[in-house]
Amino acid sequence: MQEKLLLSVKKLYKENHQEGNCPKLALDYFFTMPSPDTYPFQWFWDSCFHAIVLSKFDVVAAKKEILSLLKLQQSDGFIPHVIFWRDIELPDWTALERHPSNDHITAMIQPPVLTLAIEKIYEASGDVEFLQETLPKAQKFHDYLRTARDPDRDNLISIVQSRESGLDFSPQYDKLFGNPETFEETMIASDKIFRLYQGVNWDLDKIFASDVFNVEDLLINVVYVKALEASARLYLELGNQGQADIAADEAKLVESAIINKMWSKEDKSFYSLAGKNEKHLKVKTISSMLPLWLNLPIEIEKQVITSLTNASAFSPEYPVPSVALSESSFDQNPTPWLWRGPTWLNTNWMLYHALKEKKYLDLAEELKSKSLELVEISGFREYYNPVTGEGGGAHSFAWSTLVLDMN
Ligand code: GLC
Repeated sequence: MQEKLLLSVKKLYKENHQEGNCPKLALDYFFTMPSPDTYPFQWFWDSCFHAIVLSKFDVVAAKKEILSLLKLQQSDGFIPHVIFWRDIELPDWTALERHPSNDHITAMIQPPVLTLAIEKIYEASGDVEFLQETLPKAQKFHDYLRTARDPDRDNLISIVQSRESGLDFSPQYDKLFGNPETFEETMIASDKIFRLYQGVNWDLDKIFASDVFNVEDLLINVVYVKALEASARLYLELGNQGQADIAADEAKLVESAIINKMWSKEDKSFYSLAGKNEKHLKVKTISSMLPLWLNLPIEIEKQVITSLTNASAFSPEYPVPSVALSESSFDQNPTPWLWRGPTWLNTNWMLYHALKEKKYLDLAEELKSKSLELVEISGFREYYNPVTGEGGGAHSFAWSTLVLDMN
């Protein structure tokens, strides 16, 4: 299986590969399209996932993918969630997301998986120069998150649009969109927010002052803790104890804030927080499971494991669904209203590593074998029906190859 899997992964990376020169930016690019038909640009967290997989069989390509992503880092440390390198007609959705001072990038972020990818590349290559080049840039991105994205200074990073979480239309954000009942209604509400942001030139002070979409997001913050921990390890590799300590301390602060503020004792669930008054967004989604990756108090950890293994919550035939089966918004079927039920393999990858780190080895093995089964029966699709295992959304979807890094 592993051999056959590796061959199909290599084939996908070859087919999804893009490299060339963007004359308008006067820069060369090198990246993997998430999917040739549906997602032909360079996306931030996709690229980090691609680099993680590439590091297993083509570490040179993995490095180039990350270096390409870093080329459009702005002077304040911001790294865009999409780079439009290619000279092709841009789809309509890009218009409202565009960065005010650069037409080739968006004005949004995505979950900060960057140092996790850098660490995998370093482990595979031992390349200190690559580390010396990329780690300060990742640090600058983390500095941006800490200074520009934490307006209330409570150590939790805020996102200003649902798409920044990577979980585009997850029902945890419905409340911020006026509880839409259809995909179209969500888009109307979301576009209205984009227009407001364009009206203030994406000025974050004004955006946070408006408080229309300020979510201290679970997934973003859990990933941020893991990224800071990776930074700490990598700084040690470079012999920089001072920076390593700063990153490790920061990771602890964010972790404590997640546990103290995002756990609802009442519901025995983690939730993202909305608005200046930090209200729990009470929908049980895949995000509620991700704090398992952290060091949780044992009684909380057990309660999350109980939900994860409950057949009517997060354990259908093909786990882990993006929304708990018990939620009224749960929909197992393919729909453009993404992240409202189907199983995605990037979140399975996170949970696999979380379970392994926390020594739930049987659960980790089970999740790995179910994830492999999904790929075997349905190929590399964007997401999968958690009840039937049928694939949905984009074809040849690159981050679904993360199954190769479940070991
Ligand atoms: C979808 C996903 C997002 C991903 C993008 C490209 O919008 O929700 O997380 O980055 O596709 O694959």
